[in-house]
Amino acid sequence: MDYQQILEEIHTEVKPVITQGKVADYIPKLAAVPLNKFGMAVQTLDGKLFSVGDADEYFSIQSISKAHTLILALQFAGENNLLKRVGREPSGNPFNSLVQLEYENGIPRNPFINAGAMVLVDIILSHSKDAVQTILKFVRDRSNNQNIDFDKEVAASEKSTGFRNAALANFLKSYGNLENDVEDVLDIYFSQCSLSMNCIDLARSFMILANHGLSPWSGKQIISKSQAKRINSLMLTCGTYDAVGDFAYRVGLPGKSGVGGGIVALIPGRLCVAVWSPGLNSSGNSLAGTQALELFTTKTGKSIF
Ligand code: DON
Repeated sequence: MDYQQILEEIHTEVKPVITQGKVADYIPKLAAVPLNKFGMAVQTLDGKLFSVGDADEYFSIQSISKAHTLILALQFAGENNLLKRVGREPSGNPFNSLVQLEYENGIPRNPFINAGAMVLVDIILSHSKDAVQTILKFVRDRSNNQNIDFDKEVAASEKSTGFRNAALANFLKSYGNLENDVEDVLDIYFSQCSLSMNCIDLARSFMILANHGLSPWSGKQIISKSQAKRINSLMLTCGTYDAVGDFAYRVGLPGKSGVGGGIVALIPGRLCVAVWSPGLNSSGNSLAGTQALELFTTKTGKSIF
């Protein structure tokens, strides 16, 4: 299928909503990102790339990185060990909520809320001394782009105002659900969120999830077919936080969002699609990005259903 024409139509149709969202202002560095950006890229399993707008501009991937660290943590700990420490149900609460963690005795509802992602970091750190480099290498290899890097200013900016995340990490520690130092876990978490990537890198970095665990670049089986299925299921039910029902209803694809305004979604056996527009809705998902993905599945007639 030639997706180029469809991406161009989508770009034109979402233009009026691009500036209606609100940039994430609780991280000072993200508050400075211009609101009028929009990019979208499609990478197909048969090797074709299509893109539109600011698809090659780098931005902060934020929580999208939680899909990458979930894959790494699963590789390190195995499914049974991981599921003792983090659940697999939608939270129905904002991604940085504290209350649920207390009710549920320090076991985060799922790996994509902030507390769940901190447990993933803890697992990676327990298995790999230089966890930050392990995460970087993994993301570079998955995207087939060795130039991807962290944005140290974004990480420092988030750290300077990250009191809520510090509270979550301390909470986890108090329940015995962090093996490593709170400070170390937080530093790695802020670094992974600061990864700077563009829509093309991001679409490519999810290819193993669309390709039943197999890397199209190296030909290696990175995770099993069953693990890819499970991660996609988690994205469908938990990947866009308390707006996950609305996202699944409108888009019909598993997807992972970040407060930098990026969203990656995929159709197993077919393609990955990444979109970026920094204006967010009230749940912290890209406003124009969600609409663009809804238009994508509507116009192509392709979703997982
Ligand atoms: O911890 C935070 O609040 C951010 N570094 C990431 C949050 C995020 O991207 C949630 N996504 N929609």
